[in-house]
Amino acid sequence: MCVFFVILQKSGIPASELREHLFILRSSDATRHLFEVSAGLDSLVLGEGQILAQVKQVVRSGQNSGGLGKNIDRMFKDAITAGKRVRSETNISSGAVSVSSAAVELALMKLPKSEALSARMLLIGAGKMGKLVIKHLVAKGCKKVVVVNRSVERVDAIREEMKDIEIVYRPLSDMYQAAAEADVVFTSTASETSLFAKEHAEALPPVSDTMGGVRLFVDISVPRNVSACVSEVGAARVYNVDDLKEVVEANKEDRLRKAMEAQTIITEELRRFEAWRDSLETVPTIKKLRSYADRIRASELEKCLQKVGEDALTKKMRRAIEELSTGIVNKLLHGPLQHLRCDGSDSRTLDETLENMHALNRMFSLDMEKAIIEQKIKAKVEKTQN
Ligand SMILES: NC(=O)c1ccc[n+]([C@@H]2O[C@H](COP(=O)([O-])OP(=O)(O)OC[C@H]3O[C@@H](n4cnc5c(N)ncnc54)[C@H](OP(=O)(O)O)[C@@H]3O)[C@@H](O)[C@H]2O)c1
Ligand SMILES: *[C@@H]1O[C@H](CO)[C@@H](O)[C@H](O)[C@H]1NC(C)=O
Ligand SMILES: *[C@@H]1O[C@H](CO)[C@@H](O)[C@H](O)[C@H]1NC(C)=O
Repeated sequence: MCVFFVILQKSGIPASELREHLFILRSSDATRHLFEVSAGLDSLVLGEGQILAQVKQVVRSGQNSGGLGKNIDRMFKDAITAGKRVRSETNISSGAVSVSSAAVELALMKLPKSEALSARMLLIGAGKMGKLVIKHLVAKGCKKVVVVNRSVERVDAIREEMKDIEIVYRPLSDMYQAAAEADVVFTSTASETSLFAKEHAEALPPVSDTMGGVRLFVDISVPRNVSACVSEVGAARVYNVDDLKEVVEANKEDRLRKAMEAQTIITEELRRFEAWRDSLETVPTIKKLRSYADRIRASELEKCLQKVGEDALTKKMRRAIEELSTGIVNKLLHGPLQHLRCDGSDSRTLDETLENMHALNRMFSLDMEKAIIEQKIKAKVEKTQN
């Protein structure tokens, strides 16, 4: 609930309103939810990438404001890993799921592969949808688009926003001339009358064979602005909103299937995270066992040095003896410590690891207070000295 009060304070939204939008998840459910969000499985558009960037931003903000706790930090980092894995292994974010991106994808798919990006692109209508078409053209790597629009008023603003593409404006009166010089014509106007009828299409010069010899009309206007009979012209193909919606629907279904596959990855990453987190329980035992061994080593070393007499030793000899002692301790501890680690990278189960931990605790009395252990060690050393 602490988080609730933090949001309440920072946002100034009334508690009653805020409460409606919150839900509480605990332990594994919370981790799973974060991993799913990161993978885009909780988004309206399945697999969208923006959310992963936001999860990364959370980690950055956390680091800038003093750091997340160790567990939370690891959980977010693992969430990012899960998000990346889902995207690369299921391909969930491929395939257009909006009409505007489907329009661009379809046009590029119908063009000869090697020539697609150098096709002459024309966009008629630069409203909201038209702007999205330009955006997707940029994303696909197109370098130039001719835009025909009734007014020029906002073209500069679009140019400012999308610097990676050359935008050439032409007035509506130039429309047919512009179409004659284009291989692909996207139409996206709110025009109530047909922009292209059969006779318009017939009058256009042919498209070069290297571009496939066919002029593509991709019409995303509703109502349609390229008359259906344009398709009857041999050198033209028309794709309309219904064709695009079909593609979008198929892609959405595909993403839904991939989201189900993604659950396997999420579960795997969740297990790995929880194994890591649970294995932290053995950290105190690891530390205690190390320091137990090291105390014995140090006192045996001391004893040895006294016996020989420090003056009798060269620096080199002294170092050799020290290294002998640490070498023996480290090699002896390596095996047991290995059995206390459980980070999901090997097949050891958590139960086994915890069993090992309890056994080591018993064998070396590591649960005992440090002072008592020290006393015991001292007594033992004295006994062997006598
Ligand atoms: N089941 C398990 O094995 C297991 C293992 C580990 C943790 N846990 C539980 O998981 C939770 C997080 O553990 P952790 O190890 O990640 O803890 P942590 O490393 O100490 O991190 C806790 C985070 O919560 C923040 N925080 C602390 N008190 C808060 C408050 N009153 N309101 C809002 N934020 C607060 C801390 O920020 P500040 O540092 O700025 O306060 C810190 O970023 C704990 O409740 C812990 O008991 C369970
Ligand atoms: C991912 O999608 C792209 C484009 O749809 C396709 O070319 C690629 O082969 C797919 N890869 C996998 C692993 O499914
Ligand atoms: C295109 O024309 C429409 C209608 O005249 C106008 O609302 C829109 O802002 C214009 N777009 C640009 C980019 O100028």
